[in-house]
Amino acid sequence: MGLTSSKEYAELEWPIDILLTLVWVAYLVVFVGTVRNRKTSHIYVGNWFFLAFILVVAVLHIVNSAAVPISMWKSYSVYPGAIDAMVQWWYGHNAVGFFLTAGFLGMMYYFVPKQSGRPIYSYRLSIVHFWALIATYIWAGGHHLHYTALPDWTQSVAMVMSLILLAPSWGGMINGMMTLSGAWHKLRTDPILRFLVVSLSFYGMSTFEGPMMAIKTVNALSHFTDWTVGHVHAGALGWVAMISIGATYHMVPKVFGKAQMYSTNLINLHFWLATAGTVLYICAMWVNGILQGLMWRAVNADGTLTYSFVEALEASHPGYFVRWLGGCLWVTGMLIMAYNVWRTVRSEEHAAQPDTKTQAA
Ligand code: HEM
Repeated sequence: MGLTSSKEYAELEWPIDILLTLVWVAYLVVFVGTVRNRKTSHIYVGNWFFLAFILVVAVLHIVNSAAVPISMWKSYSVYPGAIDAMVQWWYGHNAVGFFLTAGFLGMMYYFVPKQSGRPIYSYRLSIVHFWALIATYIWAGGHHLHYTALPDWTQSVAMVMSLILLAPSWGGMINGMMTLSGAWHKLRTDPILRFLVVSLSFYGMSTFEGPMMAIKTVNALSHFTDWTVGHVHAGALGWVAMISIGATYHMVPKVFGKAQMYSTNLINLHFWLATAGTVLYICAMWVNGILQGLMWRAVNADGTLTYSFVEALEASHPGYFVRWLGGCLWVTGMLIMAYNVWRTVRSEEHAAQPDTKTQAA
């Protein structure tokens, strides 16, 4: 319908922006109310991540959506030109940082210790990496605007802050991984734990790749190519989706009062499909990305371009086939999960009730 503010990940027009703000404030009230009603004085670190995610997403949404409405479905941003672009990518990058990272780290801090039956490796590290992550993420958005009209020093600050961001990101990953100290053997038999741990590996991988792509000279090659698409999916499929799937398998039996999931073998099969699917997907996009970047910048001795755009597109065809294959594995895995969840919910078997007589005795 053409109703768009034209801002990436923030396309909605102003009346819907206002509705979103109201929903988000309701979410904040429910969350803070629940934390206030807690029975212990301590607030577990997972909740710190969730609170940061809710607060920062609210601030990002309100600042980036500030606009002057000229009719019910049309508005103009209050920021001019390059400033508008900077605000947009301050929003866009921190949406990744606080929506796709802080919220899911909050989940990680709950589900990894629960599923492995081990306490979190270092509580101190969790606090240090929380504050370091919050303090660093907010400066890195300019790496989406390398070689644009944005002042050069702003791009360099974003590049440096992105490189620094590797440290707190890996602090979180290492904390999650090391939680398995003494419980590594469980990975052999527990595919739910495998989902959680492999998601952390993809988190580590995408937060290594991101800072590399933020280096200006690397970005000169990767920007506009499928490399960015590969990076996005290492984060979205490998990290965000896999940790959510692990958490869902952990929760479903508990929510429906069952002893366990209907089939551990099916979880295992899902795990291998999702892992193989993600690996195929991101490898295909790396190859395509580098191929496209090199073909686009190749010039002949007389200064003319060596390849046309269509030639680069044709060369990308095998990569797109492999990406499709990876996607098919992913979809198959999700269908298997849906079947497994359905059979779990429908099963007659119930979780053992606590023996009240024994407890009373
Ligand atoms: C240390 C952490 C990270 C850094 C420094 C980083 C850096 C980058 C860079 C440099 C780009 C390419 C920008 C461009 O050329 O246009 C990018 C794109 C992107 N990244 Fe990351 N990344 C990080 C982690 C993540 C994670 C964990 C996720 C997902 C869960 C993610 C999701 C995305 C998305 C969705 C884009 C595409 C944005 C767009 O152009 O629409 N990133 N990132």
